[in-house]
Amino acid sequence: MKKKKIVVLLGGVSAEKNVSLKTGKYVSKSLKKQGYQVKEIKVTSNKNNLIKSLKEFEPDFVFNALHGYFGEDGKVQKILDKLKLKYSHSNSKSSEIAMDKKKTKLIFNKIGVPYPKDILVNSNSFNKKLRKLKFKYPLVIKPVNEGSSLGVKICKSINELKKYKLKKKINYMIEEFIPGRELTVGILNNKALDIIELKTKKNFYDYKSKYTKGMTKYIIPASIPKNIENKCKKYTEKIHKFLKCKGVTRTDFRFDQNKTLGKDLYVLEINTQPGMTPLSLVPKMAKYKGVSFDKLIENIIGED
Ligand SMILES: Nc1ncnc2c1ncn2[C@@H]1O[C@H](COP(=O)(O)OP(=O)(O)O)[C@@H](O)[C@H]1O
Ligand SMILES: [Mg+2]
Repeated sequence: MKKKKIVVLLGGVSAEKNVSLKTGKYVSKSLKKQGYQVKEIKVTSNKNNLIKSLKEFEPDFVFNALHGYFGEDGKVQKILDKLKLKYSHSNSKSSEIAMDKKKTKLIFNKIGVPYPKDILVNSNSFNKKLRKLKFKYPLVIKPVNEGSSLGVKICKSINELKKYKLKKKINYMIEEFIPGRELTVGILNNKALDIIELKTKKNFYDYKSKYTKGMTKYIIPASIPKNIENKCKKYTEKIHKFLKCKGVTRTDFRFDQNKTLGKDLYVLEINTQPGMTPLSLVPKMAKYKGVSFDKLIENIIGED
């Protein structure tokens, strides 16, 4: 049988462009190795060029290796829908909700998944809301629509918070800080994989911890109580299914065994386009289950 023609979308216009270039490179290498006819399309702000390249190549399938704005938020998925092209990962609607940490929390609330309390702020409302803030310090401020820990800041005092530079036209959330440990759980074939605990040398799992070799220790399976493991897996599957996500996703948790704020487990977010380099988390989880990187990629394109 003739092997499929596959387009890999990579790069993009978000702050996570460089991460996507890496994801895309590894995905495309793996697909080529498996005999597929692969075309890499570097996505820029020129949508017409993207559409033109897609039409010219006439792929059987599009592997979306983009992260963040335009690639992970449902926008590129809408273009692919219009072109009637099949693509990897979640559809436009699921992606749009998952990329927005506030919309995701509304879903968490609906389905009974625990999450940290927050308030929304923007550059106009920031000062006014600061005066009325009820959360204790430290607290977290982060953009509602970003990834890779970009823009995430843990503030120990109001003075630190006041120094945070909010960009115009972007929504942020100020969130209670959940002390304790960092866990993450991937999904493959609608089932939770094993849990990874992340132990970073930095004070939180920031951009540097995520992409610098040696900065973070990955412990799989995480050494956590059985009931916490079960809850993590249950919540991860529940969120993935409720949002009708497709292919792989990854859900991030905080685990506070001291229940400082009343609960032991909190979900931070679900990622619909998790990183896919061999050093990324979902490939590590798959490998632990005996699924190689190539098999994982095949699974995502639906050929496995
Ligand atoms: N409420 C919080 N309490 C403690 N740490 C947090 C909190 N929110 C974010 N963090 C830290 O910042 C990292 C990135 O935050 P996250 O909400 O997952 O956004 P991103 O989409 O950038 O990954 C987390 O993995 C965690 O280390
Ligand atoms: Mg995260």
